[in-house]
Amino acid sequence: MPKKRIDLFAGIAALFVLASGLAVSAQTAEQAWLRYSGYHGRTAIPLRVRVLGSGVLEQSAASELQRGITSLTGASSYISGSAIKGEIILGTIDEIHQAYAQLTIPSNLESEGYWLNWHKADDHPLLVVAGADESGILYGVFDLLRRLTSDEDITHLNVRSHPDLPIRWVDEWDNPDGTIERGYAGRSIFFEGGNVRDDLTPVSEYARLLASVGINGCNVNNVNAAPQLIDSDHLKQVTRIANAMRPWGVRVAMSVALASPQKIGGLSTYDPADPAVKAWWAAKVNEIYALIPDFAGFTVKADSEGQPGPASYGRTPAEAANTLAAALAPHGGVVLYRAFVYNHHLDWRDLRADRARAAYDIFHPLDGKFASNVIVQTKEGPIDFQAQEPVSPLFAGLRQTNQAMEIQVTQEYTGQQRHLVYLAPMWKWVLDFDLRADGRSTPVKEILAGKSFHRLLGGMVAVTGVGRDGWLGSPLALANLYAFGRLAWNPNLTAEEIAAEWTKQTISKDPAVVGTVTNMLMQSWPAYVNYTGPLGMQTLTDITGSHYGPNIEASENNGWGQWHRADHLGVGMDRSVKTGTGFAGQYPSELARVYESPAKSPNNLLLFFHHVPYTHKLHTGQTVIQYIYDSHYEGAAQAAQFVRDWATLEGSIDQPLYEQVCDRLVYQAGHAIVWRDAIVQYFLKLSGIPDSKGRAGHYPGRMEAEDASLTGYKIIDVTPWEDASGGKAVTCAEKSCTAEWTYTGVAGHYNIAVQYFDLQGGTAKFTLLLNGQPVDSWAADAALPSHRPNGDNSTRHTVRGIELKPGDLLRVEGTRDGDDPAALDYIEVEHAASPLQGWPKPARP
Ligand code: GCU
Repeated sequence: MPKKRIDLFAGIAALFVLASGLAVSAQTAEQAWLRYSGYHGRTAIPLRVRVLGSGVLEQSAASELQRGITSLTGASSYISGSAIKGEIILGTIDEIHQAYAQLTIPSNLESEGYWLNWHKADDHPLLVVAGADESGILYGVFDLLRRLTSDEDITHLNVRSHPDLPIRWVDEWDNPDGTIERGYAGRSIFFEGGNVRDDLTPVSEYARLLASVGINGCNVNNVNAAPQLIDSDHLKQVTRIANAMRPWGVRVAMSVALASPQKIGGLSTYDPADPAVKAWWAAKVNEIYALIPDFAGFTVKADSEGQPGPASYGRTPAEAANTLAAALAPHGGVVLYRAFVYNHHLDWRDLRADRARAAYDIFHPLDGKFASNVIVQTKEGPIDFQAQEPVSPLFAGLRQTNQAMEIQVTQEYTGQQRHLVYLAPMWKWVLDFDLRADGRSTPVKEILAGKSFHRLLGGMVAVTGVGRDGWLGSPLALANLYAFGRLAWNPNLTAEEIAAEWTKQTISKDPAVVGTVTNMLMQSWPAYVNYTGPLGMQTLTDITGSHYGPNIEASENNGWGQWHRADHLGVGMDRSVKTGTGFAGQYPSELARVYESPAKSPNNLLLFFHHVPYTHKLHTGQTVIQYIYDSHYEGAAQAAQFVRDWATLEGSIDQPLYEQVCDRLVYQAGHAIVWRDAIVQYFLKLSGIPDSKGRAGHYPGRMEAEDASLTGYKIIDVTPWEDASGGKAVTCAEKSCTAEWTYTGVAGHYNIAVQYFDLQGGTAKFTLLLNGQPVDSWAADAALPSHRPNGDNSTRHTVRGIELKPGDLLRVEGTRDGDDPAALDYIEVEHAASPLQGWPKPARP
């Protein structure tokens, strides 16, 4: 195509960039990453799309390509049925072979794979998207669009690709009433009021989004399964979900309760070995396939956290899984049986008891006993999606069993989407982790791909928690969903290249923006680990409740087994074979030797495997206690830096997006201080060992609410004590209350941070006054967990650039509203030059 045409494309494309914007009102895939905006590549893209077959996926592929090219170039593309010079051809290998006998096409593409090839035919470009099957064509089109979106030069395109893992599913933990377990993005896109929603447009859009990164299955309901969802009435409704997802190659799966034959089938038992139970499942599965012929299969949570299971009848997980598998096998369906089986009534006084052992102890002896269409689905770590855990040893413990790894896109323990935590670096660490089974290289990614132990089925499953609020509630959290799909397709991609890819498609192709966002994403998980639970202590959060704010003792003295066993002398769980629970011995011998010894254990997992004194020296020479102090200060500083980094993007990216993310990062930086102070003051008190850098317990400029002159406010003890500065706060017992301090420091220019508790059930108001004059007012209107003042809802509001001199009166006025008593922890006078230098102005709450 002549050069002139390319320039025209660029001009029109630029208009498109301006016009498209990022704020889209309906819930669409564009909100996540499928924007196709602004093609500036050097290659002139053929505008004609020729599709050779008539299958549903092939048609979806063609219309997506047409939509993408039109949006990218600003010129309309159209689908033609006949050969025209200069075109993009879509078809299966066979179809293309027939239509273009002269083309040399790879004959051995693997299932779901594709071939992209740029050809010159009679001096006209011919861009070939050849799929091994229809899915391959669809995935090939999305790959091509990804390249075009990144302005890649495609004139020498010759790419072959296929997924490493056959099972690439998302699990939605949606309940029939429309709530989502551990979801942080509003209500379900699938269910409402006990039924499937009437409007499934977001479901189609979700399937399109999933297909764009190669995801081929979606389990639509909570693993804590509501049995009624597989009754005849609900199955008919679920058929509509399957119909909405089918054009994008996403097959529907469901979680089932093992007690279903009894609960909804009217049988007296659900014993998986009982012939009547087997017959019930077979009939139920037949009913499902009559409605949904491409139904993917069942996910099972059993004998876990109160869910019914085979143990009630003295049967094993293999017997239960195989009963379901036998019903599904004739239809090509599979069973994803979760290895998340453990006793949550453990005796915490028993130093040998260990929840981390459970999956291996239960499933390793069953290796080889599972049917060929059963896949054991194991969480990436032995506990439960903690900020940092070792890799589950079960991956190396099953050699004759198909395996899938379960991860979480929904950030249950990692900041619940209010914190920026890009999880791909953690998943990559797990995927690349070499378990050294039998003393040879067996990285997790190869085990899952079936390569290490020659298994036919394997995969990755992500619990996503998408909802109606912008899919994941936070714009940057969508990078996690994107990364999951990309890694499940190709675990050899790096977290960094995926972050850059997502940023280019979603935010901007400007190299400076891509660099900044990628860098922030890459830093975010290590920062979160730093200010929550470093050294393998797990997320030191409220594990029996919100899983959000700090609550160090919540994991102790109960049966849930997430213990870290901190006492006045030391911290950590002894999981060695010699003196502890023996968990370290579940790993193949090379690793078991490493984890057995505190001297050899890597720093980041030391406290997962060993109970050591606070004075124990890490490989860096730092003591454990000093590391706890340092990492928390470093993590909070990293979170503050994210605000600074993001502030550099103002003007270069979409303004509403800029502001939305900015607000979130400012909140996160404040909450990172809550985390830092809670963990640091707790361990300072427990260990009695001072911080060699003098920070722990010393807060220059901080003025406690309990020390203020109070009108109406009453002093309370906060639970847990570490969640408030000094363990105390004040709460407003009347309609309106005040706390007043006299400033005694040096005269100067300051920022004043007000630390308050933003409770549910009302929107309290706060005003900061200087010598009686209001300088700022704001509402406590965030939706944060918990009805009591604690680290879940402790929030920082910073008022910038205030001139202070000794004797000035600083007053906070709190007005309660409903159940929110305008509770206050402290105010802190900080020098205006730090730490908020470089933050956007004015600061947003
Ligand atoms: C965690 C989570 C539960 C969930 C469970 C599971 O314990 O908090 O909400 O049901 O994992 O994975 O089954």
